[in-house]
Amino acid sequence: MKTFIEKLPKAELHLHIEGSFEPELMFKIAQRNHIEIPYNSVEEIEEAYKFNCLQDFLNIYYQGAGVLVTEQDFYDLTYSYLQKCADQHVRHTEIMFDPQTHTHRGVAFETVINGISKACEDANAKLGVSSLLIMSYLRHLSEEDAFRTLEQSLPFKAKIKAIGLDSSEKGNPPSKFKNVFEASVKEGYIPLAHAGEEGSAVYVWEAIDILGIKRIDHGNNALQDENLVKEIIKRDIALTVCPLSNTALRVVDDLKNHPLKKMMDLGLKVTVNSDDPAYFGGQVNKNYEAIQVALNLSKSDLYQLAKNSFQYSLLDENTKQVYLNELEVYFNNNK
Ligand code: HPA
Ligand code: ZN
Repeated sequence: MKTFIEKLPKAELHLHIEGSFEPELMFKIAQRNHIEIPYNSVEEIEEAYKFNCLQDFLNIYYQGAGVLVTEQDFYDLTYSYLQKCADQHVRHTEIMFDPQTHTHRGVAFETVINGISKACEDANAKLGVSSLLIMSYLRHLSEEDAFRTLEQSLPFKAKIKAIGLDSSEKGNPPSKFKNVFEASVKEGYIPLAHAGEEGSAVYVWEAIDILGIKRIDHGNNALQDENLVKEIIKRDIALTVCPLSNTALRVVDDLKNHPLKKMMDLGLKVTVNSDDPAYFGGQVNKNYEAIQVALNLSKSDLYQLAKNSFQYSLLDENTKQVYLNELEVYFNNNK
C-alpha cells in the first residue's frame, strides 16, 4: 500500500504555503535576514509545534511566517514545497497564500506574489509539477482589510486563480465577507473558503449560500446536518479534507474516528491534503498513508480520492483529462 500511495499520481488542493515552512529553512532564512526567532534549535521548534486547537497553531504559524521578507525568501519557500510535490508524485497543486500576513509587516504584495509565482513557473518547467494560486483572506481581520488586499492583487490578477478564506473560524462567519467575495468574483476569481473545521454546519451553509464557494476546505462539521450534506452533493462541491491537520488541531480525536470514509460512503466528493505539512506531521503522502491504515481504505478508495483531486481541481477540462488518464493507467497497472 505504501508504494502504491507513493507512486499514485495525485493533486494537492489544500495547502498553505506558509504552513509548508520547515524548521531548517526557517532557521536559514531567519539568519539570512538577521531576524531573531525564539528558538535555538530545530528541536526547540519541533517541541513548540504541539497544539490543542486552531488558535494555538495560528499564533505559531504567523510568527514563523514573520521571517519571510524578500522575493527570494518566498521563492525558496515555494520551490522547496514543490520539490516535495515532485518526490511524492503530486502532479498538480493549488497553493494558498495569505498576503495580509506579510503586507501587515510591511512586505509588499508584489514581493510575495512574484517570489511564489516564479517558483511555480520554474517547478513547472524543471520538475513537471503544475500549480495555481489561491489568495486567502484572513477572516480574523475586517472585510475592509480584505478589500484592500483585493485592490493590491489586481495588477497581478493573471497569476491568481481563486480566493480563499482562512485563519480563526469561530466568531468570523463567512457572511462577514459577503461583499468582498462578491467583488472578487466580479474580478474573475473563483471563490473558495475554509468552513466547518471548528465552525458549525451553519458556517458551511453560509459559505455555500452567501459566498457561493466552489469547494469547501475541511467541511468536517457539514456532517452535523443531513440536509446540508444533500445540498453539497447536489451542487457537486468537493471537500478538501486534511487528516493529520484534524488530529493535530483536535478537530478529530483519533484518526480511527475520522469521518473521511463516512463522507465517501454518503456520496460526498472528498480529497486528501496536508494543509500545513511542516506543522502537522506530514506531507500529503503521509496523510494518505495514515488515513489508509486508520480506516483500512482499499486501493480502489485511494484511486477514488486521487481521481477527485484532479476532477475537483481548478484546471481546465483538457488538462484534467491528461492527469486523469495518467492516473487511470497507473491504477490499471497496479491494482
Ligand atoms: N485553518 C484555518 N486557517 C489556516 C489553517 C487552517 O487549517 N492553516 C493555515 N491557516
Ligand atoms: Zn487550511
